[in-house]
Amino acid sequence: MVDRSAPLKIADMGCGTGASTVLLAQLLNAQVTAVDFLQDFLDVLESRAENRGLSERISALCCSMDSVPFGDEEFDVIWSEGAIYNIGFEKGVREWRRYLKVGGLLVVSEITWLTASRPMELRKYWESEYPEIDVASSKIGVLEKNGYYPIGYFVLPEHCWLENYDRPMQDSFEDFLARNGNSDDAQAIVEAEKREIELYEKYKSHYGYGVYIARTL
Ligand SMILES: C[S@@+](CC[C@H](N)C(=O)[O-])C[C@H]1O[C@@H](n2cnc3c(N)ncnc32)[C@H](O)[C@@H]1O
Repeated sequence: MVDRSAPLKIADMGCGTGASTVLLAQLLNAQVTAVDFLQDFLDVLESRAENRGLSERISALCCSMDSVPFGDEEFDVIWSEGAIYNIGFEKGVREWRRYLKVGGLLVVSEITWLTASRPMELRKYWESEYPEIDVASSKIGVLEKNGYYPIGYFVLPEHCWLENYDRPMQDSFEDFLARNGNSDDAQAIVEAEKREIELYEKYKSHYGYGVYIARTL
């Protein structure tokens, strides 16, 4: 749904170690700028890119997603998976708008309520962890208010959360604690993650990761 006559310019915001960056560079005729504020993650991304012969197509940029040195209308696509919440959905979509060409695409995932009402325990937890959590219609409203029109929305399947995220994280707790000398801070992090996993397992029908695809006006 984008003009592919020339190589696409894509920004992957909060790219981490580059799971989506690498795929985008592999599948599309594109130059991908991968943004993260942790250089350690970008180092992993750069070696993955090199191993796959994609170094020419990927450039890593170590900076915060809310202070990128991009020009107006520089990109065809802004991609961001599981990361925009770090600066807030509304702030992110508003600030990134100007970096997209007219008719450019925003593809962004965001935690989303799937039901109109939800148990008090769950509501309280997420309202304190991430007050911007909301239903898809509100998220789409935010996109519309900020110069986009929605062209797609879907919910990531539960296994993405459970098998691709929670289980590998659970498997790494022991090693993480050992590496950090079992410190109080490390234990607090593990306990917080365990709580998040426990709530997801209990209430997964009420929320999930929504993926929003929107075009700029
Ligand atoms: C949950 S990870 C998602 C990584 C990747 N998009 C993926 O799907 O595998 C969130 C990423 O956002 C990055 N991040 C958090 N706050 C950031 C900020 N203000 N600017 C840039 N990156 C940030 C973290 O370092 C982390 O790599």
